Order: sequence, then C-alpha cells, then structure tokens
Amino acid sequence: MVSEYIVNNRLKNKNEEKWRPKYHFTAPVSWMNDPNGLIYYKGWYHLFYQYNPKHCDWASMHWGHAVSRDMIYWKDMPVALKPDQDYENDPEGGCFSGCAVEKDGLLYIFYTASVKREGRLHQTQCLITSEDGIHFEKYEGNPIIPEPPEGALEEFRDPKVFSAAGKWYMVVGGSAKGANPEGDARVFLYESEDLYQWKYKSAVLESDGKLGTMAECPDMFEINGKWVLTCSPMKHPDYNKALYCVGDMDFESGRYTIEKTGQMDVGFDFYAPQSFLDAHGNRVVIAWQNGWLWMPWCQGWGPTSMENWRGTFSIPRTVTLNEKNEMCLYPVKELAVLENEIKEYRDYEAVPERRYLNPADARSFSMELQIDVGRVVSRYLEIGVLGAGDRATVIDVDLVEKVISLDKSQGDVYGRGRMNCPVELEKGKVKLLILVDCSSVEVYINEGRYCITGNVYPEREQTECWISTPYKNAVIDRIRIASLGSIWET
Ligand code: FRU
Repeated sequence: MVSEYIVNNRLKNKNEEKWRPKYHFTAPVSWMNDPNGLIYYKGWYHLFYQYNPKHCDWASMHWGHAVSRDMIYWKDMPVALKPDQDYENDPEGGCFSGCAVEKDGLLYIFYTASVKREGRLHQTQCLITSEDGIHFEKYEGNPIIPEPPEGALEEFRDPKVFSAAGKWYMVVGGSAKGANPEGDARVFLYESEDLYQWKYKSAVLESDGKLGTMAECPDMFEINGKWVLTCSPMKHPDYNKALYCVGDMDFESGRYTIEKTGQMDVGFDFYAPQSFLDAHGNRVVIAWQNGWLWMPWCQGWGPTSMENWRGTFSIPRTVTLNEKNEMCLYPVKELAVLENEIKEYRDYEAVPERRYLNPADARSFSMELQIDVGRVVSRYLEIGVLGAGDRATVIDVDLVEKVISLDKSQGDVYGRGRMNCPVELEKGKVKLLILVDCSSVEVYINEGRYCITGNVYPEREQTECWISTPYKNAVIDRIRIASLGSIWET
C-alpha cells in the first residue's frame, strides 16, 4: 500500500505562497526539472522528476517522486534515486532523465548516469528495478549501455523504452559531427528481448544542421497506426523546444520515415515532455514548464526561489493527432474535478473599454471562449489576466493576421516577451481555453491544435481579468469561467 509510505515533507502550506501554482505540480522544495519515469503502475500514477534536494539551482541530480490516483491530486514520496555510485556521483552530473516500463509486474526504470572526469563527459544508460514502486534497486550490471554508438559525440542521454512488434525498444538522445560545428542532433534506437541486453539499431532522427545540436529527452509512441517521435532539441534554429515528428516506423530495418514535423507548444515554457499511457489507454504528456538559460527568450526562473522552490510541470495533456496528422495537446479531462464557482455568459459583448469578468478565484481559474469570427467587427480581441491597472498578461487574438499571442511584456517585473502563434481558422471559429494558475498561463487554441505556455510572476493584487476590443465591438458566442481548486491536501 503506497499510502503507508507517504511523507509529509512540505515545509509550509503551498496554498499560502504567492507564486506556487495551485493545480500544477511542483516539488515540495528546491530545484526540479524534467519529468521522469511516468507510468501508471499497480493502480497508481508515478511521477518522478529531476531533483536537487539541497537548493534551488541545478546540481547533483536525484529523482524526486510523487504518486497519484488520478494525475491531478499528488502525494509526495521519498526521493527515489540518489547518485551514490561511481558512475554518477558528481555535483555536475547525477541520475539524469529516464523512463519506466512494467514487465511481469516488475517496474524497470532506465536513466542516464552522468559524470565528468578529466574534462570528459561520461553518459551511460543504467537500470533499476522495483517490485512496488517505492523501493528501488540498482542493477549490479550497470551500465547496461556503457557508451554511445560509433561516431557519436559524448552527450548521450535520456532513455525512453517502449514495446513494439514483440520486442523492446529504447530511444536515446545524442549528437554527432555534421553540418553544425557544435554537433548535429541524433535520436538513437536500441533493441532488446529482455530489457537487460541492448543492441544498437539505427538513428531515427538525424539533423542536417536544421534540428539543433543535441536531442534531449526523446520519446516514441504510436497513435492511430502512425509513429510519433518527440524530443527537445538544443539550439534549434527555429527555437522549437518540443519537436514532434509523425511518420512510419519499420522496426525490422530501424528506418523511420518522417511525414510531418511541428511544435508541441509555441510558448516560453514547455520542455522535455514525456509521455505515458493513462489508466484508460490514452496517451498523455507532462513537460517541464520552464526553460534553460541557453534559450534566447529565457530570462531565468523568476523569483520563486524566494519561496524555496523552482520548477513547474505542465498539466497532464492528452495527445491526439487530427485528420491532418497534426498533434493536439489538451488538458486531461480529470482536471474538471477541481472546478468550482462556474460562470457562463452567452453572446457576451466586448467593447473598447475593458469589461471585467471577476472569476471567483482570479489567480487560479480556467476560461473557455467560443468565438465566431463573423461576430467580431473589430480586428482583434484582447484578454487580460493576472492584471492590475496597466499591468497584465495579455492574450491577443488577431483575426485579420490570424495570429494569437501570449504577451508577457506587462505581466510582471521579472521577464519580458511575447510569443506569436499563427493559426488556421477553420470554419471561422476559434475556441480558446486559457488556464491561469498563480504564476502560469496556458492558452489552448481549437482543442489543443496550438498551445502557448508561459510563466509570469504577478503580485498578489494582480487579480483583474478583462476583455476588450480596440474599436467597435465583438460578440463572443460563449464564455465559461471556472475557479480551480488546489491539488495539495492541506
Ligand atoms: C533536459 C536535460 C536532460 C538531462 C537532464 C539533466 O532538460 O538537460 O537532457 O537528462 O535535463 O537534469
């Protein structure tokens, strides 16, 4: 029984902190990055994460751990993995990202052990097992993959294991010499019969100077007979930080044929997504809702270290492909359990003056808008959230240019920026879902066909939510606002 082992290690009540999201997962204290080892196992969702238990900066990676019955309410568990072996014990290394699979009731966790020795990086793939998802045992034969394939550079990490065609496969991120002097991203594929012995098969993704220098956190899964490959490329020339490819995979030859590529989220903060199957067989992803300093738009991690935590996870998002094989990501329907104090408006008129919508909890709510372009006389709509006077994070809906933007330039005093998302408006309809959560703003357009995510750090008094249109007026078919409660048990 998992509950016997649950530790109550929150230092204070999360709901009293100014920037701590109420319904997005955060670690109890300290630094957190990538989600790891996501799996539904023996009736519980397990969420592991890159964790530095000592302070709010990245160092000496451990795996933090939490469990949930529904992907919404989480309970903290003791740290699952510590870098206590020679091959991983390094303040600049540790137990890096990885994944989990179940075989015959046993949990297999794969991760990258990372150390720097005499200026050289050694990244190897390692295994631990668990019979209950609580106690973990490092495999004595580690590392199970001791070096990158021939010709590859030393960065070699983030194994993701899956089964296909009666075998086990693993994708691992890496890099090789190529068109780009800093290296060209690669995703390597390995094959196994038993999860212990791995054979190199092929590179399923090879950048030709256009897909970044290194592919972090790759993932591969099937949807509707198509094979989807995702990864977070470092230094992608188009700033794509969560790339997806849709194509066909021939596991016999190891050949992956890409038909389509796209961006999972065009915002500021969505990196290293990892997917898993939920209890009903739906594909779901969770990403680290932050970025690294090498990203040109990244202005650090805001002021949350004042509250002794750093790092947010995205809401679990269901992954689907539409009829054009474009990826759609939408919050899992389980999120509805947090809804309360729902307000609905029909034929809501927006005018040049701001009209205030006053959600019951103006720092933690969802807002859905159904817009018929034909009823908008103005060129665009502006929706302000987390506002006070001139300050607000603004979602701009430009119906002439067909661009929807998340504009943080007046959102807080910590960061700046605006991300623009060109959209196709089919049948003249736009459906927006905006999620606001203390320091997180997400915009989902047309059932998740486009997503724009960003963090902002507003003051407590920034509680205005408004709609305006620069001239004339606009009638919005429907607006639905729901306050969203906390996922933390107090
Ligand atoms: C991605 C990443 C991974 C690595 C981990 C280290 O954010 O750089 O490639 O395993 O973070 O914490």
